[in-house]
Amino acid sequence: MAKSKVNTVFFCTECGYESSKWMGQCPACKAWNTFAEETIQKGSGKSGGYARQESLNKSNPVSISQIEMGEDERIKTRIDEFDRVLGGGIVGGSLVLIGGDPGIGKSTLLLQVCQNLSNDHRRVLYISGEESLKQIKMRAIRLGEFSDSLMLLCETNLAMIEENIKTSNPEVVVIDSIQTMYEENTASAPGSVGQVRESTAVLLRIAKSTGISIFIVGHVTKEGAVAGPRMLEHMVDSVLYFEGDRYASYRILRGVKNRFGSTNEIGVFEMRQDGLTEVKNPSEFMLSGKPQGASGCVVACSMEGTRPILVEIQSLVCQSNLGIPRRQAAGCDYNRVNLLMAVLEKRLGMQLSGCDAYVNMAGGMRIVEPAVDLGIAMAIISSYKNKVLDEKTAVFGEIGLSGEVRAVNFAEARIKEIEKMGFERCILPKASMPHVKSSKTMKLIGVDSVKEAIEQI
Ligand code: TYD
Ligand code: MG
Repeated sequence: MAKSKVNTVFFCTECGYESSKWMGQCPACKAWNTFAEETIQKGSGKSGGYARQESLNKSNPVSISQIEMGEDERIKTRIDEFDRVLGGGIVGGSLVLIGGDPGIGKSTLLLQVCQNLSNDHRRVLYISGEESLKQIKMRAIRLGEFSDSLMLLCETNLAMIEENIKTSNPEVVVIDSIQTMYEENTASAPGSVGQVRESTAVLLRIAKSTGISIFIVGHVTKEGAVAGPRMLEHMVDSVLYFEGDRYASYRILRGVKNRFGSTNEIGVFEMRQDGLTEVKNPSEFMLSGKPQGASGCVVACSMEGTRPILVEIQSLVCQSNLGIPRRQAAGCDYNRVNLLMAVLEKRLGMQLSGCDAYVNMAGGMRIVEPAVDLGIAMAIISSYKNKVLDEKTAVFGEIGLSGEVRAVNFAEARIKEIEKMGFERCILPKASMPHVKSSKTMKLIGVDSVKEAIEQI
């Protein structure tokens, strides 16, 4: 057999499963129609370079007590919302993937992180495969002052990038984006499954062997996953998603995986003319512009990680002219809305089956926590009955299939936030009442069922 041979293989674009023939369904992740053909060079002795190089580095086991640690090893970016999502700052030698739709602001966010770090006299290297140096500079001018310790590089060849990282020896490196990078020994095109995987493996090796923190930008496919194999998420230390409504100004940075901190933390930003600014009080931001005395509007409290956020839930219920009524949900789970409407119909005897219903989280926020159930149900009832819920009232609670209101966690934290935002009454699950302290300024109304809750409207 020849030493070097070009082979054709098929990769599942979802999970990276490799197969010698095309298949309709991936045997590993069971996704349909995800196989893509790629050519790979086998037998040249260079593929799988990552694994080889790792094993060449001779290493010995060390006792855990001998590993020396400084006081606080994390690098602070001075963007609190960003640091929080990372678990309190950048960990040395970490590989972090930032995914998001095109144009959402990934490059802007990372350039601002670089700006802050370089202004703190840290050496930072921003490598772009998408924009020219002039284009990056143009963006930088909008963002403000930069110091000399920020270095820019336009390069897509990973061998060159590794050289450059070695010579400039930065503390933090940004790769924008992984889909434009290529590793010479992998035959497939940049952006393909094999290439993205190999490139990430090279970056992982650099990060772990040098202690440099690397941020990778990854584009997101229509289905909402980082393009390339799902296993990319397994290779990196942390995965952050930058999301938000393209037409709304605010953006949310969400941690979905974090080896150095808790996941589900979010950072809230607003996109302005001069870049992204932090939103320190998201509740205030979400409730701004709330209509006064409108039926179908209810303020609910949801936990995003460790932070309670108040959102306004809007609902519109009207008689349908169609055989099958229209139901729409924006910012919450469509099936959950249908389920809650079925509960209201069966348990409260409300005639909703002939009604169109639209539910919307104002501000474009996306919330899937069951604790907003009570808010959604009350908004629907308020619109159906055309009665207004007192505007100084906020609600939270999960609804079960028999119409009961179930306890939720973090009740105390939610109530504190509701109180802070100037509400005077709170409707909450009766079962959560023993876990909260009574408040002087706020009336707490514990309810067992949706039936009890709607008496408040
Ligand atoms: P960008 O960071 O290029 O997005 P990504 O890297 O995720 O593709 O963000 C581009 C968008 O941000 C673009 O629509 C313009 C907007 N923007 C502002 O509104 N203000 C600014 O100061 C900057 C730099 C960008
Ligand atoms: Mg970009």
